[in-house]
Amino acid sequence: MHKVKSVTAMAVLLGAGLALGACTTESTTKDVMKHPYKEVWSGYSTATPETRAMQDDDFANPYMPYVDAAAELWDTPAGEAKKSCADCHGAPDDAKGGSMGIPMKGVGAKYPAYDPESHGPINVELRIQKCQTDHQKAKPFKYESDELLGMTGLVVMQSRGMKRETKAAEQSDPLYPAWLQGKAFYYQRRGQLDLACKHCHEDNAAILVRAELLSQGQSNGFPTYRLKWQKPGSLHRRFRGCNNNIRSEPYAYGSDEYLALETYLAWRGRGLPIEGPSVRK
Ligand code: HEC
Ligand code: HEC
Repeated sequence: MHKVKSVTAMAVLLGAGLALGACTTESTTKDVMKHPYKEVWSGYSTATPETRAMQDDDFANPYMPYVDAAAELWDTPAGEAKKSCADCHGAPDDAKGGSMGIPMKGVGAKYPAYDPESHGPINVELRIQKCQTDHQKAKPFKYESDELLGMTGLVVMQSRGMKRETKAAEQSDPLYPAWLQGKAFYYQRRGQLDLACKHCHEDNAAILVRAELLSQGQSNGFPTYRLKWQKPGSLHRRFRGCNNNIRSEPYAYGSDEYLALETYLAWRGRGLPIEGPSVRK
């Protein structure tokens, strides 16, 4: 079991910034996984039983209507090339990956990947957009649009249960510079509250803040349906939210800063099973 820490440290950290809820130290943390270096666990572990039940049942998961809409788009020819995703990749769950031999299974577990064109990381959202521009000769879905969120959910869910893998921390890996940049971001204090990601998600994971247990801020559940948003959201939206919470300037969707952070976060969560599209409070 993950050791539950006192809320005092968090109260001091958050100072006047955020009001703290009742001082409950009882944790519902479960399913804690062992990891070679440290314990890693999913935000699923700190979700309430009700939220977990929604995620566990695709008929109750409010993300699924967006995925269903995307499944139709998947089969629809688009752009000047008049090609559908299916024309090249087969069905989303086709293990052989259609005529191109490029399956969707595994994508969610291995992204962000290295993009030789930008010489940096590319995530699933940008990869989909690239297929739309390069291969369909179409206008790409906008970042954070219902269409792109749906399509990202459809692609990522083909990797559900697969373990997150990345070699980005190895110096020989082309993603290493992004990993370094993401790591620096993670530990850098910022905003009016002068907090780093680390202060909440590393030092104070599994403690209660405002009736909500802080998780390790892992990315294996993304994209996610957030009940608070009443909408699906990308990992970059979550980053923007966490930046806003500490009154620091958020970066743009798909920005180099967030792609580097995403690369680093994937490494922190290596070994965790892909859950997306998950449900969170
Ligand atoms: C004309 C063929 C074609 C079409 C249409 C197409 N793709 Fe692709 N897709 C590719 C090729 C080729 C690659 C490999 C990377 C490259 O060369 O661009 C790829 C790569 C991908 C990848 C990354 C796979 C991996 O293992 O890294 C994803 C995800 C993807 N496509 C999704 C889509 C989606 C979603 C659509 C429809 C919106 C789509 N593609 C439409 C040809 C296509
Ligand atoms: C002031 C505390 C605080 C800081 C600082 C903070 N977060 Fe969060 N974060 C939260 C809270 C609260 C949640 C929602 C509950 C949870 O999952 O911990 C959350 C959720 C998340 C999640 C979603 C986890 C899941 O399983 O759905 C991610 C990812 C995340 N944060 C990443 C970050 C990153 C990256 C940074 C640094 C840029 C950061 N956070 C900074 C408080 C914080």
